[in-house]
Amino acid sequence: MTVQSCLAVVLAAGEGTRMKSDLPKVLHAVGGRPLIDAVLESARAGGADRLAVVIGAGADKVRAHLNKTASDAQVFEQCERLGTAHAALAAREALASHRGPVLVLFGDTPLVRPATIAALTKRLSAGADIALLGFTTDTPTGYGRLIVEDGRLVAIVEEKDADPATKTIRLCNSGIMAFRSGLLPGLIEAIGNTNAKGEYYLTDAIAVGTARGLRAEAVIGDDESEFVGINDRAQLAAAEAIFQRRARTAAMANGATLVAPDTVFFSFDTRLGRDVIVEPNVIFAPGVDVASGTVIRAFSHLEGAKVAAGAVVGPYARLRPGADLAENVHVGNFVEIKNARVDQGAKVNHLTYIGDATIGARTNVGAGTITCNYDGVFKHKTIIGADVFVGSNTVMVAPVTVGDNALTAAGSVITADVPNGAMAFGRARQEIKEGMGAAKKAALAAKKAAAKSAT
Ligand code: UD1
Ligand code: CA
Repeated sequence: MTVQSCLAVVLAAGEGTRMKSDLPKVLHAVGGRPLIDAVLESARAGGADRLAVVIGAGADKVRAHLNKTASDAQVFEQCERLGTAHAALAAREALASHRGPVLVLFGDTPLVRPATIAALTKRLSAGADIALLGFTTDTPTGYGRLIVEDGRLVAIVEEKDADPATKTIRLCNSGIMAFRSGLLPGLIEAIGNTNAKGEYYLTDAIAVGTARGLRAEAVIGDDESEFVGINDRAQLAAAEAIFQRRARTAAMANGATLVAPDTVFFSFDTRLGRDVIVEPNVIFAPGVDVASGTVIRAFSHLEGAKVAAGAVVGPYARLRPGADLAENVHVGNFVEIKNARVDQGAKVNHLTYIGDATIGARTNVGAGTITCNYDGVFKHKTIIGADVFVGSNTVMVAPVTVGDNALTAAGSVITADVPNGAMAFGRARQEIKEGMGAAKKAALAAKKAAAKSAT
């Protein structure tokens, strides 16, 4: 059997009016990833080898985004928003040149699993002309309702066109459909716009197809959380909650301990090894890779960071993009690390900022140390060698290098390179004035007493 090519058409042109946003709806994120990227990823993993995206509202922004994240997708523009059938037609060029099944997905439905999508095209192979993903919910308001007669899907009625009896139907349209090769353009042409919204509804392909004697079937998904369509901010938050629930379950299934799972937040690409312990209230923003056997302590925020085995991070640590912690590194409370490699066994434990730097193995960075990496215009590098002892409250004015085995005195401002094994002082020398402390205190006390007796 030859495997047919499968085209996925993703509709993403809608105004997203209910989001009340300057950002196009499909660029809003769930799990740190724009909705459109999640949909395209599911389509690919669900079997699509060709991708077409229909954009419209905020087209420039969406196009620029797709150029970066989905250069394999063909992009079409729907110039007026006349409904989902009209949107699908905008991709007519891709449809006309395609032989094989066609999937249609919505850009605002990001949680559908690849296997669920694959089940639709399987239904085509088993003889259906059109297969549509439906789901049952106790909160059907806003979704199109599936009309099933004698076990066959015959029509979909949109919320705005539904009479009270139809509104009680709990079987809903997810928006995801699959069409047998070559069918879709002819069906769309026959779809009219005599409905409450005056739009061309792609959902009418079911009634049109059925009238032509085609076989339309509903595949009913068993997990309604996959089909949340995002139209407003409340649905965006609901989708985020579903994503987080899935991510927490997966992290634990893979061997991580989440002490308080509901307080840990993941991104779509977070990678946690086995036997990672994550304490409460930790956020993994995108791009984080945490190796096995590490502890991420409470209230830490990680983004674009790598943490190697045996490291301990936090509590209250912030790892920003480019933070790269080697094995057994300790990063403690109120420490921020950005674009810096910290080698094996080094410790940066208290109240410190390390940016655009490298720190050698076993080096100890004292409390309150700061790399001054920015002169207001340019960023500069700080290089700290291995086995260095950085005294508390050291300021490293970059560019600067501190050699292996060197020591900086507490409170130093280091502006010149420190050779290997040297000790650097960069602070005013302390002076002692015998008796002056007590005399000063006595003078102040007398002044206060005089002021009091005058009132
Ligand atoms: C749609 C379905 C509904 C289904 C629900 C699932 C139709 C007519 N209705 O309703 O049956 O239960 O999704 O979430 O299909 N779009 C365009 N161009 C347009 C209009 C829409 O590209 O002219 C895109 C939108 O960007 C969106 C998708 O199509 O990604 C769906 O449009 P939306 O307005 O969100 O439809 P719903 O009212 O949610
Ligand atoms: Ca929608």
